[in-house]
Amino acid sequence: MNIMATPTASVVLKDKGLEIALSDGATHYFNYYWLRDNCPSSFSSATRERSFDIFHLEAAPKALAADIQDDTLEITWAGEDHVTRFPLAWLENYKAAAPRHDPADLARQPWFGDHYSDVPRFSQPDLMNDTAIRAKWIEALLVEGFAIVTDMPDSNEGLTETATLLGHIRPTFFGEYFDVRTHINPTNTAYTAAALELHTDTPAEEHAPGVQFLHCRENTVEGGYSLYADGVAVANDFKKIDPEGFKLLSEISIPFYCEHDDYDMRSRQTVIELDQHGEVSGLTISQHMLDFLDIDQTLLDLYYPAFCRFGKMLQDKKYMMTFLMKAGECMVFDNHRIVHGRAAYRAESGDRYLRGTYVDRAEMRSTYRALVSEGRFKP
Ligand SMILES: [Fe+2]
Repeated sequence: MNIMATPTASVVLKDKGLEIALSDGATHYFNYYWLRDNCPSSFSSATRERSFDIFHLEAAPKALAADIQDDTLEITWAGEDHVTRFPLAWLENYKAAAPRHDPADLARQPWFGDHYSDVPRFSQPDLMNDTAIRAKWIEALLVEGFAIVTDMPDSNEGLTETATLLGHIRPTFFGEYFDVRTHINPTNTAYTAAALELHTDTPAEEHAPGVQFLHCRENTVEGGYSLYADGVAVANDFKKIDPEGFKLLSEISIPFYCEHDDYDMRSRQTVIELDQHGEVSGLTISQHMLDFLDIDQTLLDLYYPAFCRFGKMLQDKKYMMTFLMKAGECMVFDNHRIVHGRAAYRAESGDRYLRGTYVDRAEMRSTYRALVSEGRFKP
């Protein structure tokens, strides 16, 4: 027998779900499993997690009756002693199959080579003390991908306390922190005084770290200019100039490596990264960690010219911001979006010391959401 209790005119019970008229005047369908699983009583106010386990239901959930009382949908369930009440305003949020609103999903704003004077700057003590300024800082990182923190304490702890405002320190296979200064036996081009071409860091990791911090502790050498470019600005222009090349660089993954005596890290990445909207969200590029391209040699006839064309665009003055870092500043940037490099310097001309670390992008977005939105469970 089909259980069809006496629904109101605006709620119609079906076999696997119910139909309800909402504020747009249209009828919307909601599945019974979904309604039962998301009953407000399914969540613990203490843990803010779902405490109800739908796997323990003996039979498929089904409404015995449903009614609207005071802008609330009230469902009495068949086979269990349970009533669910949903405010209609809450149901409105889920009437279309769409991802939940994300305050961290902000439109990116591309920037160009003349951007240095406009780079958002934040004083470290302000970031430590003021959550509203901290939110503005993260917003700048989400929108522009690059910001400078000034007035940094001249200490290792200063970098740690700044980075952990965004999230936990994200180690790479080099460890939790790295020190960039000239080394006697360098294991990385960064540790020499040579020029360092524009790149993103540790592309050989499956998930390269998301946000990079470069804390300038000393910089008195001749040369050593910092170079930064916005991969989103370059890739968006590249798409207009060379749509076929853009397709190759955004769809075909290529191998990266990082190898020394006791490590051999490898990954495959596309050079151009797209987000869930199909928009350019970043790059993975590093000439010094690019492995032998192993894609079909005839495809390389197309791939290599596109790759080189894109690489040349990255170096173009139109996109490349050039400046000297000052002691007490910390560059903070999206390691998947902003390519960075360095002009050569004379090692014996002075001291240059940068200390760096990373935090993941997802943690940064998480911190931002918590700072700017109320969330679903806050009392
Ligand atoms: Fe780097």
